[in-house]
Amino acid sequence: MKNCIIAPSVLNANFLQLGQGIKAIENGGAGLVHLDIMDGNFVPNISFGPGISACVKKGTSLPLDCHLMIANPESYVAEFAKAGASIITVHAETTNHLDRLLHQIRELGCKPAVAINPATPIENIKYVLDIVDMVLVMSVNPGFGGQSMIAYTLDKVKCIRDMKPELDIQIDGGINLKTIGQAKEAGANIFVVGSAIFGTENPEETCRKFVELVK
Ligand code: DX5
Ligand code: ZN
Repeated sequence: MKNCIIAPSVLNANFLQLGQGIKAIENGGAGLVHLDIMDGNFVPNISFGPGISACVKKGTSLPLDCHLMIANPESYVAEFAKAGASIITVHAETTNHLDRLLHQIRELGCKPAVAINPATPIENIKYVLDIVDMVLVMSVNPGFGGQSMIAYTLDKVKCIRDMKPELDIQIDGGINLKTIGQAKEAGANIFVVGSAIFGTENPEETCRKFVELVK
C-alpha cells in the first residue's frame, strides 16, 4: 500500500490569517498544502492565483499542491511553477492537448498530475497514467468546499488503483472523518480535506486526527 498523506485545502481557511492556518496544518502533520485555483470560467467560483500561491510558498516548508480549475491551463502553468508549486494538477476537461500539457509541467520542474470531474470516465486519462505522478479523482463537482462526496466516484478510484497499484491517487471533495475510511478502502492514498479541517475550532488538532486515521 502507498503512503497515506493528508493534503488540507485552504479554500475555506480564514484568509486574513492564512499564515496561521498553514502553520496549524504543518504542525498537525499535513503532507502537502492543497491550493484550489478557480477562475470563474471552468468552475463557477473565483479563488486566488499565483501571487497568493507564492506567498504561501514563502510561509511553509510543505510542498505546494496546485489544483488548477481554470480554462487555458497552458497559459498559466509556468506562473505556478515560478510561484513554487511542487505538483501541478490540470483537469483533463480543460485542454485539447493533455499529453503536451503534462510534459510541459514536467519540463518546468514540477510533478504533473491529472484531475477528472465526477462524470468524466477514467478512459479519458487511461493513456496518460504512465506520464503523471498523480491522478486526482474529484469526489464533488469542483467549485466549492463543503459539499457531500458523490459515492460513485469511489468506483473510479478502485478502477485506477487496479490499473496502477503504484500510482498516487488523490481524492478531493467531501472528505471528512466519516468518509475518509471509504476513500482509503477504495484505494486513494492522498486525501484533500478542506472544510472538515478549516471549519473546525482547532485545525491543528483536527488535521492530526486525520493523519492518525489513515496511518
Ligand atoms: C473543490 C475543491 C476542493 C474543496 C475541498 O472544488 O477542489 O479542494 O475545496 O473542500 P471540502 O473538503 O470542504 O469538500
Ligand atoms: Zn482541490
